[in-house]
Amino acid sequence: MDKNLYPIEGKIEFNKVDFYYPDTGIHALKNISFILQPGEALAIIGTTGSGKSTIANLILRMYDVTGGQIKIDNRPLTDFGLESLRSQLGYVPQDVFLFSDTIYNNIGFGLKEPDEDKIIQSAKDADVYSNIMDFPNEFNTRIGERGITLSGGQKQRVSIARAIVREPKILILDDALSAVDTKTENTILNSMKKIMEGRTSIIISHRVSSAKLANTIIVLSDGEIIEKGTHESLMKDGGAYRELYEKQMQADQEVDSGESEYIS
Ligand SMILES: Nc1ncnc2c1ncn2[C@@H]1O[C@H](COP(=O)(O)OP(=O)(O)OP(=O)(O)O)[C@@H](O)[C@H]1O
Ligand SMILES: [Mg+2]
Repeated sequence: MDKNLYPIEGKIEFNKVDFYYPDTGIHALKNISFILQPGEALAIIGTTGSGKSTIANLILRMYDVTGGQIKIDNRPLTDFGLESLRSQLGYVPQDVFLFSDTIYNNIGFGLKEPDEDKIIQSAKDADVYSNIMDFPNEFNTRIGERGITLSGGQKQRVSIARAIVREPKILILDDALSAVDTKTENTILNSMKKIMEGRTSIIISHRVSSAKLANTIIVLSDGEIIEKGTHESLMKDGGAYRELYEKQMQADQEVDSGESEYIS
C-alpha cells in the first residue's frame, strides 16, 4: 500500500527548476518557473532537443530535479508516493507503447476494473471510436503481434484514450498529435476541450496549432523559457512563437492543398 496517497487537485508549480541528465551531464533544463492552477492548460512549444519531454519526465519522477523544486498542490513532488503520483497522472508518452492485446484491454489498462462505458467514452473523446468500430472485431480486435497494425495516428489516439479513461486530474500529452494531419488534430483538440475541463493539462508539441487550447504558452529553446504568454500576446510580441506560427501555418496550407495528406 502506498503510504503517501494524496488525492491530487492539480496545481503544478515549477520553481527555478534545473536539470542535468545524470548519465550524460546534458543540461536539459535551466531555471524553469511556471505555475498552473488546477484546471488550467499549459502548452510547451519548442524545437527538437529543447527540453520539452524532460519537463514531463520530471513531473512523472522518471528523474528528480537537480536544482529548484517542483510542487503539486503546494506539496513537494518528492512527498508523493511514486505509485500514487503516477496513478493520478494521465500521460501520453511521445513514443506510444501498446500491448499485443485487444484494443479494449489497451484502453482499459490502468483501470482497477474494466468499465465498458468509460472505455467507449474515452475512445470517442480521443476520436478513435469510429476507427475501432470499422475493425473486424471492434473493441475485441487484437493489435500488435498476430493482430492488426494500427497507423501512427491511431496508436496515438488509443494512447490518449488510455490516458483519459481513469479521469486523471492532470493530463500530460507529449507530442501526442504529431502523427495526425491538421484536420484530425483539430477534431481531437475540439473533443479535448471537454476532456480538459476540470483537469490541469500540459500539452507538449513542436506544432503551434496544438497550443490553441492553452491558457499559457511557453516556448523552450535549449532548456530555457525564451517566451511566455497567450497566443495573442505572443503573436503581438513578434518573437520566436510568431515566427514558428507563420512558418507552420504556411506549411500546413501547402500540405492541405497537396496530396501528401496523412491517411489514418
Ligand atoms: N534519457 C536521457 N538521457 C540523457 N540525455 C537526454 C535524455 N533524454 C533527453 N536527453 C537530452 O536532453 C535534451 C532535451 O531533450 P528532450 O527529450 O527533453 O527534448 P524535446 O524538446 O522533448 O525534443 P523532441 O521534440 O525531439 O522530443 C537533449 O539534449 C537530449 O539529448
Ligand atoms: Mg520530446
